[in-house]
Amino acid sequence: MNGAERGMTTGPTRDLAEDALTEEVLARFDTAPSERFRHLMQHLVGHLHAFAREMELTEAEWAAAIDFLTRVGQISSDRRQEVILLSDVLGLSMQVIGMAHPPTGGATESTVFGPFYVGGAPTYRNGDDLANGARGEPCLVAGRVRSTTGEPIPHARLEIWQADRDGLYDVQRPELSVAQGRGQLDADDAGHFWFWTVKPEFYPIPDDGPVGELLRAARRSPMRPAHIHFRVSAPGCQTVTTHVFAAGDPYLDADAVFGVKESLIAELVRHEPGTARDGTAQTAPFYTVDYDFVLPSATERSRD
Ligand code: BEZ
Ligand code: FE
Repeated sequence: MNGAERGMTTGPTRDLAEDALTEEVLARFDTAPSERFRHLMQHLVGHLHAFAREMELTEAEWAAAIDFLTRVGQISSDRRQEVILLSDVLGLSMQVIGMAHPPTGGATESTVFGPFYVGGAPTYRNGDDLANGARGEPCLVAGRVRSTTGEPIPHARLEIWQADRDGLYDVQRPELSVAQGRGQLDADDAGHFWFWTVKPEFYPIPDDGPVGELLRAARRSPMRPAHIHFRVSAPGCQTVTTHVFAAGDPYLDADAVFGVKESLIAELVRHEPGTARDGTAQTAPFYTVDYDFVLPSATERSRD
């Protein structure tokens, strides 16, 4: 086997520095069979080298960055996703989401996925209480799922997750063995859905790890405005991953992860104790929020 067959480049590759070093690293990706992979890696390397040189990156700074990234990985587990968190606070998640889901024919806008989604959450039926013991004031959430042409989407699947009154998701409470404030349900024949949960409150993203250090070094706030997460899907439609944000929240214009879109803000209306519109008797003050979701068809423009 000769050098070319082993994927080795020909020509002098010693004493490389500055532009020549960058060029040689880029050339080593020329052999990649996937054109997309080759482009991604060559642009990434090009930007990284340019960054290091423009900033005159010191060895101490480079070592600190490696230590930081190492700790981002080490603290991640099946209950904590620090890598997603890092992407979120750098605004990278919203950049990618914005390109993948440009506003399409009145479809519901997408926003950050976040680190707290859990697949296979408990299934519920319309009218059930997803709080399942989560702390907070009762809140009835209702709406309809439609297509961009206005047709109801029967039996659309809604996956829902949210933090409790203390700003914690169930997965952040190690003592819990059941899902709380989390579940999935199907809309009815006419695309209607309704369920009880607790009123969402603003909360800080987890800031006890390396991403928190990053925020503090920049004097940045970890706060997110109150919201409920939704992932809405149906056969023949694009899945929409989004939130419904609480109108009037003090952090709507200061979201730590840049996820707020005007079209996703809805009023949480407070009610005195009494009979709610689903016929249930409420012995304490409660809230209602109405929000309709619009799913683009699978063939509408998307970069997914
Ligand atoms: C969330 O809303 O659950 C979330 C999103 C991004 C980072 C952290 C949390
Ligand atoms: Fe959240």
